[in-house]
Amino acid sequence: EKGGYEHFMIKEIYEQPKAIRETMTGRLAKDDSRVVFDELKWTKEDVANIKKIVITACGTAFHAGIVGKYYLEQLARIPVEVDIASEFRYRSPLTDEQTLAIVISQSGETSDTLAALKEAKRLGARTLAITNVVGSSIAREADQVIYTWAGPEIAVASTKAYTTQLISVLMLALYLADLKGTLPPERIQELIKGLRALPGQAHELLEDVEPVKTFAQQYGFNEDVFFIGRSLDYAVALEGSLKLKEISYIHAEAYAAGELKHGTLALIIEGVPVIALATQHDVYEKMLSNIKEVKARDAVVIGIAMKGDEEIKKYVDHTIFIPATDKYLAPILAVIPLQLLAYYAAVTRGADVDKPRNLAKSVTVE
Ligand code: BG6
Repeated sequence: EKGGYEHFMIKEIYEQPKAIRETMTGRLAKDDSRVVFDELKWTKEDVANIKKIVITACGTAFHAGIVGKYYLEQLARIPVEVDIASEFRYRSPLTDEQTLAIVISQSGETSDTLAALKEAKRLGARTLAITNVVGSSIAREADQVIYTWAGPEIAVASTKAYTTQLISVLMLALYLADLKGTLPPERIQELIKGLRALPGQAHELLEDVEPVKTFAQQYGFNEDVFFIGRSLDYAVALEGSLKLKEISYIHAEAYAAGELKHGTLALIIEGVPVIALATQHDVYEKMLSNIKEVKARDAVVIGIAMKGDEEIKKYVDHTIFIPATDKYLAPILAVIPLQLLAYYAAVTRGADVDKPRNLAKSVTVE
């Protein structure tokens, strides 16, 4: 059932090109002009009534929500709050009829997320679930559902569920942008073309994993690893750090790159690996300054950058390139080397990759 792979996690990492394709199937207009969500069928009026979006989720799905905030705010221009499900419920959230509450959950069974969904409903919000499991408790409770169609995910550490959650929220943002008129039609088309290219690009990325494997073997015995990035790269850094912690038990921290100097820069000492994501062009120069800050403290820097970026090599010790893509699509590709890094680090350390200690695939207690 592992299809020749040693673990479910690596099988699921390799299933991403297919999973991403399935998520988009039937949802992109043939002429690339817009996203079609037959399951939503919202009108301009419905959308005009959404004054705020709140996204709640746990774990990896929460990290997908952070990326979702960038997508929905920047493309559809709707204010978004993202909250951990177990926090949302107990903070008397300012949620009402003009709020769209989105919950994200691979399993559709996470108790904290289900409770947050019920709370949002009680407060009168319109609710939408993004989930992978048809007929799950969360799918049944929400007013509307977008299925991610990633196929079953068995490994506790979520991989293909995350990438398909990102695709789903991005498509939702484009769908809303079209109805609200917040993006020029050419920009929507450009992003849809970019989406169509992703399965092939993810496949390309997975064809040469040797460099990542080597880094994992080289640095897999370090006890601390830092992940830094700005903007969408920061959101991906959070997920990369969680993956590494979850399965390899290496202590990792994700920091917004500009925030290091306000906090933990003192912990960056000689030889500490720093994974620096630099895929976002609008903050690229600022990111290079942050890389210089950690290099000045003799960190070992692995840069994650877009193909064609030769500049980065001057600043880092090693580089992993992802295929060139739009800034909004970069997270979907950039997370893949981080998943692989976590996987090979866990294998190097002899950890039980698919069933890490103290974690369950879906947590149905609060
Ligand atoms: C945790 C799992 O308990 O639940 C994580 O260990 C997962 O891997 C999180 O991301 C949320 O799960 P779900 O099914 O709601 O996406």
